[in-house]
Order: sequence, then C-alpha cells, then structure tokens
Amino acid sequence: MADQANTSQKRFLYLAAGVSAMGGMLFGYDIGVISGAILFIKKDFSLSLGMEEIVVSAVLLGSLMGAAIGGFLADRFGRRKLLILTAMAFCLGAIAAAVAPNTAALIAARVMAGIAIGIASFVAPLYISEIAPVTIRGKLVSLNQVALTIGIVISYVIDYALAADQAWRWMFAWAVIPAAIFGIGLFFIPDSPRWLVARGHPDKARAVLQRLRSPEEVNGELARIEHNAAQQKGSWSELASPLLRMAMIVGVGLAIMQQITGINTVIYYAPTIFKFAGLSSSAVAILASVGVGVINVVFTLVAMQLIDRVGRRPLLLISLAGMTLSLAVLGAAFAMPQLSGFVGWIAVGSLMVYVGAFAVGLGPVFWLVLSEIYPLSIRGRAMSVGTLANWSANLIVAVSFLTLVHILGKAGTFWLFGAVSIGAWCFAFFLVPETKGKTLEQIEDHWRAGKRPRAL
Ligand code: BGC
Repeated sequence: MADQANTSQKRFLYLAAGVSAMGGMLFGYDIGVISGAILFIKKDFSLSLGMEEIVVSAVLLGSLMGAAIGGFLADRFGRRKLLILTAMAFCLGAIAAAVAPNTAALIAARVMAGIAIGIASFVAPLYISEIAPVTIRGKLVSLNQVALTIGIVISYVIDYALAADQAWRWMFAWAVIPAAIFGIGLFFIPDSPRWLVARGHPDKARAVLQRLRSPEEVNGELARIEHNAAQQKGSWSELASPLLRMAMIVGVGLAIMQQITGINTVIYYAPTIFKFAGLSSSAVAILASVGVGVINVVFTLVAMQLIDRVGRRPLLLISLAGMTLSLAVLGAAFAMPQLSGFVGWIAVGSLMVYVGAFAVGLGPVFWLVLSEIYPLSIRGRAMSVGTLANWSANLIVAVSFLTLVHILGKAGTFWLFGAVSIGAWCFAFFLVPETKGKTLEQIEDHWRAGKRPRAL
C-alpha cells in the first residue's frame, strides 16, 4: 500500500517537473529557430544588414525584459501562474511571428517570444527546484536544460526540413504545439509548496506536499520550510544585505561566466564557424550544426545522471577544464596557415568537444545552482538578477562575436574565450558552493550564519 502511494507520488512529481521543463524546450526552440528562418525573412522583407541584426536580436532584448520583470511576478503571484502567462506569450509570439505582415510586426512578435523566454528560463528551474526532493533535485532541475537542448535540435531540424520551401512562417508556427502542451499541462500541476508557505498558506502547501512526498516525509519538510520562512522579511533590501552578498556574487558571477566563455557563438553561428574551418558546402555545415546540437543533448543527459551523485562542483570544474583545452586546440587549428583537410577536422572535432564539455557542466549547473542558493522569500527576485546578468552577457557576446573575429582573428577570438574559461574555472573553484544533498533550507541557513561558500 505504502509502496503504491510512493509510486503514484513519484509519477506526479515527474509529471510536474516534465510539464515545467516544456518551458525549457520552448526557450531552446525559440532561440534556435531564427538561425534558419532569417535566411528567408531577409529576402522576403528585403532587410538591410542592420535590420537583419535587429530581427535576430529582438528575442534577446525581449529576454532581458522578461528576466527583469519575472522575479517580482514570480514572488508575488506564484511560479505556476506566471508560467501559465508565459505559455500564452509563447503561443501569441509564435502566431504573431508566423503571420507578421511586415518587419515591425515581426520584431514585435519576437520581442514577445523573448519576454516569455526570459521568464521561463529561470522560473521553470525555480519551480522544479522547489518541488523536488533533495536527493534528486539536481536531476529534476537539469531536465529543464535537457529539454532546452532538445528544443534547439528540433528547431534546427525543422528549419532544415522547411528550408527547401523557404517556409519561414511555418518555422515559427510549429512552436504553438509545445506552447499549448505547456499551457494545458500547467493546469494539472500544483503551486510550489514553498511559495505557498511564503505567501502564508501552509495548509495548501501541506496538501501539495501530500501529493509529492510519501506520508512520513510531509510533516518534517513542511516544518522546516515554515521555520525558515518565519525568519525572512522578503523585501528587496534583503538582496543587498551583507549576509546574502556572497550568494549574489556567486549567482551573478556564474551567470556571466556561462556566457562569456562563448557557448552561444557556437549555438548561434555554428554553420559560420564550420565554414571558417573549411567545410565548404552549406548543407554539410548545417548538418554539422545538427551534430553539435545532438552532442549538446547527449552530454546534458550525462550530466543529469551524474549531478546528484558526483555533485555540482566536480562537474563544473571538469566542464570548464574541458572547455579551456578544446578552445586552445580550436584556436591552434585556426592559427595554422593551411586550414583544410586534417586541420579542418581538428577544428570541427575540438568544437564538438567544447560543446560536450559545456553540456556536462556549465550548461545545467548554472541554472541549477541559481535555483538553489537564494532564500525563499526573495528567491524569484534574486534569480531574476542573475538571469538578467546572463541574458545581458549573452547579448553582448552575440553582437560582438563577428567584430571580435575581425579584430583578433579567429584563433585570437577562441584563445580569448579559452583565457576567460581559465578565469571561470578559478571563480568556480574558489566561490561556488557544493549544494548536493543539502535542502534549500540548509543552504539558506548556511548564508545566514555568515559562512564561506566552500564551507557548505
Ligand atoms: C544557456 C544558453 C545556451 C544553452 C545551450 C543554456 O544553459 O543559458 O545561453 O544557449 O544553454 O545549450
């Protein structure tokens, strides 16, 4: 009897995590889809180079807005309700982009999709982190990153399939299906029990925990959440309090490191980089990009399996070491006078290793740690600050990559990212705490006691 109850609770837990991870899938799809669509939009709307850049980066601008407003809304109205709004914005954004009569309408539609991405990028991990039991929290939150990487691959494949017909409107339209599944699914999953306690509804939180945990776990967990919630003010000023300063440095620092080590130069410009490396045909370059996407998925799955066993720190450190080495090799390949044949393949290979190294650590670990290290009462707002830093750095790298290549050369650019990765490794080594096996409440207590991150 007890066993049966445990199985149905587990199933419900996975369902709730799976539904919210659809937010990650839409995030991935919507950032990936533009790479193929832009080729045809450019022709249909006769875009100048400047306008083309605006159409491509509109989604990043929207993400910044979503990241900025999402935290307050998540703390005020709850994670689930905000995700429902986000699903509607994803749907509207997709339809509006698909039927856009002109460039202005298309830009507006992409900003709308971007706002949804900016919110979903952190509210989905936040929600999962708050419903997950401590022993599998890493795995469940990383499910969101797995979904994200799958979303990127699906967008590449759909772009590829529709390219012959130049059907860019359909490329956007396909996002309506996952958005609808996301929106409908959210009506069947509960509010976060932790948020319910923070808003003064312990009875509702108990009812939710009873659906997610075995009966003997409910009382203890609820008591711990209530105990911690009672000590918090929940005001913006807490974000700047000396006790949380270190948590803010860790979150914002990791957010920036995740981007300035260069991952999105590959996600956004993979075909261009492959062409740099001597793959002359566009079709082969696009196919190689799908390969990059698949490696991203596979190694994120590996991380998901390991993250609660070996911990966040070891994965992060191995990941950054792998990224540094592969960037060094990539730069060296580009520094060779004759980049073709064997040297070209070394470049392609090291790019693949780089993506795999990112996927096994820095990709999922950043979003996971961000969802773990802040106190309940200000978790949404604090994550919003880290997310804003992440999207800002993302935008800066995206718009400066081709200029960097122009100024420093290809080898110089990848070596620069390699040098930054060494800095990121040191940051992670000295400042990122190991959150494996700790409840969110234990992590809060740690900061409040004024202890150092590595002492956790
Ligand atoms: C990052 C994104 C990136 C993606 C690639 C995410 O964790 O935040 O910027 O595009 O991983 O898989």
